[in-house]
Amino acid sequence: MGRVIACANQKGGVGKTTTVVNLATYLALSGAHVLVVDLDPQGNATSGFGIDRTALDRSVYDAIVDDSSLAALITRTAVPRVDIVPAAMSLAGAEVELATMDQRERRLQRLLATVRGDYDYVLIDSAPSLGLLTVNALTAADGVLIPIQCEYYALEGLGQLISTIHLVRDHLNPDLAIDGAVLTMADPRTNLSNEVAAEVRRHLGGAVFESVVPRSVRLSEAPSYGRPVALYRPESKGAQAYQSVATELRGRIEGRSGDPARPTRGRSDVSTNVSTSPTAGPLQHAVAGVDR
Ligand SMILES: Nc1ncnc2c1ncn2[C@@H]1O[C@H](COP(=O)(O)OP(=O)(O)OP(=O)(O)O)[C@@H](O)[C@H]1O
Ligand SMILES: [Mg+2]
Repeated sequence: MGRVIACANQKGGVGKTTTVVNLATYLALSGAHVLVVDLDPQGNATSGFGIDRTALDRSVYDAIVDDSSLAALITRTAVPRVDIVPAAMSLAGAEVELATMDQRERRLQRLLATVRGDYDYVLIDSAPSLGLLTVNALTAADGVLIPIQCEYYALEGLGQLISTIHLVRDHLNPDLAIDGAVLTMADPRTNLSNEVAAEVRRHLGGAVFESVVPRSVRLSEAPSYGRPVALYRPESKGAQAYQSVATELRGRIEGRSGDPARPTRGRSDVSTNVSTSPTAGPLQHAVAGVDR
């Protein structure tokens, strides 16, 4: 059984999609079979793999809302061993339609049960919200991966995300783990970026990946060519960073057992250091929103 990982952070533009697309690619280049599920109506993961979402007849919406088979929606990408369930704008209506449905939080979990056995990893890209689609992602997942942008308000809203994860654990998915947090768009030349990274590590401890993704023009250009950075500029710093994130993830998940289904981190990881006491210095404001 593959490990299902939801990439989530309700803050917009922190690198969720960039992380999903490039992590999926490097996991696949290291031999894993990966399914990407694009659960964001913006469809950026879909277009990031070069698929024209405006031309799609069907998308993940049809499975989530209309009970179409998920297997029938799986599409190959240009990256060997990476498949995708694409998203289209129709998915925007799913939030509203799900609201009155039976088992509305478990739709994706049920759908994935039929296909996850074919993959080593299933990576879910979620929208910048904590709505029902994201709750579906967290309910279907074994673990959550949280991209955190190295900027001033980095930790704002993180408390709310952690609270949502706890709620999902309490009511829907008791084994949901936090697989880690990835620092993104870091600029090691600036004090602010370094301070934010240190602050995040202080709060989340060992949950934070050692590999840090730097700000990289190549990473932001790659989607306009419909390619993961590995197929665009594999020598760039951004590409190398995601390659090490992928290696680190495999190490964390597969651990010594070599079995992707067995996490090395339990559900008690990370949990709580996020409820913050006041911090001194310029980052005080950045963490002010972190309350559980
Ligand atoms: N390390 C990076 N260096 C430079 N640009 C980056 C990096 N990571 C992401 N970007 C760019 O920043 C923007 C936001 O990234 P991305 O789309 O991955 O974030 P997101 O969290 O998925 O956003 P949303 O919340 O809208 O779904 C994109 O234009 C992307 O190309
Ligand atoms: Mg996105």
